[in-house]
Amino acid sequence: MPESSPCLILGVTGSIAAYKSLDLIRRLDGEGVSVHVVATRKALPFFPVATAEVFSGHPVETELFGGSLPPGEGLGRVPHLALLERADAVLVAPASADIIARMALGLADDLLSTLLLSARVPILVAPAMEEAMYLHPASQTHRKTLSDRGVREIPPDSGPLASGKSGLGRMASVDRILETLLPLLRKTRPVRGPLSGVRVLVSSGPTLEPLDSVRYLGNRSSGRMGEALAREALARGASVTLVSGPTALPPLPGCDLHPVTTAREMEERLRSLFPAHDLLIMAAAVSDYRPKEAVAGKRKKDGREWTLSLVENPDILKALSAMKGPGQVLVGFAAESSLDPERLLEKCRTKGVDLLVANDISRPDIGFSSPENEVTLVTPAGDFRTLPRADKSAIAGQILDAVTAHGWSKPA
Ligand code: C5P
Repeated sequence: MPESSPCLILGVTGSIAAYKSLDLIRRLDGEGVSVHVVATRKALPFFPVATAEVFSGHPVETELFGGSLPPGEGLGRVPHLALLERADAVLVAPASADIIARMALGLADDLLSTLLLSARVPILVAPAMEEAMYLHPASQTHRKTLSDRGVREIPPDSGPLASGKSGLGRMASVDRILETLLPLLRKTRPVRGPLSGVRVLVSSGPTLEPLDSVRYLGNRSSGRMGEALAREALARGASVTLVSGPTALPPLPGCDLHPVTTAREMEERLRSLFPAHDLLIMAAAVSDYRPKEAVAGKRKKDGREWTLSLVENPDILKALSAMKGPGQVLVGFAAESSLDPERLLEKCRTKGVDLLVANDISRPDIGFSSPENEVTLVTPAGDFRTLPRADKSAIAGQILDAVTAHGWSKPA
């Protein structure tokens, strides 16, 4: 991991939920975060240390002295201070009732508690315990003490607990932990890359147009292409806003997410966001039509035909290209059943985009709902380039390369 990558100390304490910390480490690694694990002795029966060491690429530390940390110069002589030297934040997940109490009281009787007392970086806790322990007045007081000191809690969920009972106390999901943690890490150590300082707006997923209160007109877009573009832009240092129709994907940590449903909602949101962005990538599969009127309530079966009358939705991309200011760059998508170069060039020009990304929807192996894509890039000057079939994150990277290569430079 490069020196510039954000660095997290992950405290793991004695809770059944410690197995989830492995997934957390893997996901953090995928997000470019360097993770150093400090486990309490009581965590060890629940925590596969060797796997955590492989996933994080660092030894799991437990002991205040005599662990694997090499004695170094200056602060490096004291292991917990050596670990803290590079850390941007400390997260305790799972955080047992015991560590929460020890933190509140300022105890320092093992490596993790000593490190927490010495830390001057943001501290987060993701509690995991039985409901009775979480709601006990002692725990409530300790949580309040920690909150008053600026420790952020990622609250637990309700659901099945280790005891077999159901209740409040399940550690927050890895998605929810990342949603809180990653923006904080990115703020303390912003990712430096070719898109640093660039504000990227991505539209993604389908739009759904209501027929009545339960039915809708939609399409098979999974939102994966838009998500891959947003993820890749984040990894290159951009700040990213994602306007997405409904998808089954978990929220992408680190970006500003605006969920929408209909084309008109998407248009309204994009119109208000577009002026504050440098690059718009319109990857959403916007419904071209919507029912003229949505039936109030659920339409009952009445033995008669239901004839739908559809009206055209606004062409969002065209409208935004008319609003385009100097230096703004627009990328559009085209889902076509055959890639006729003349038609693509005409679409690129009439839509007013700087780059059109076309894919062939007659092929079942790529595009909609598939993890892979193969696309043809078209510029208004008539340059064509086909990006051979690859997974959507590789395609997303090549699309961003093409945007940068087409004479577009970062704002001053
Ligand atoms: O006209 P067509 O649907 O082929 O255009 C595709 C491109 O235009 C995509 O970038 C899509 O997000 C955008 N679009 C739009 N508004 C619509 C339909 C498509 O912005 N109503």
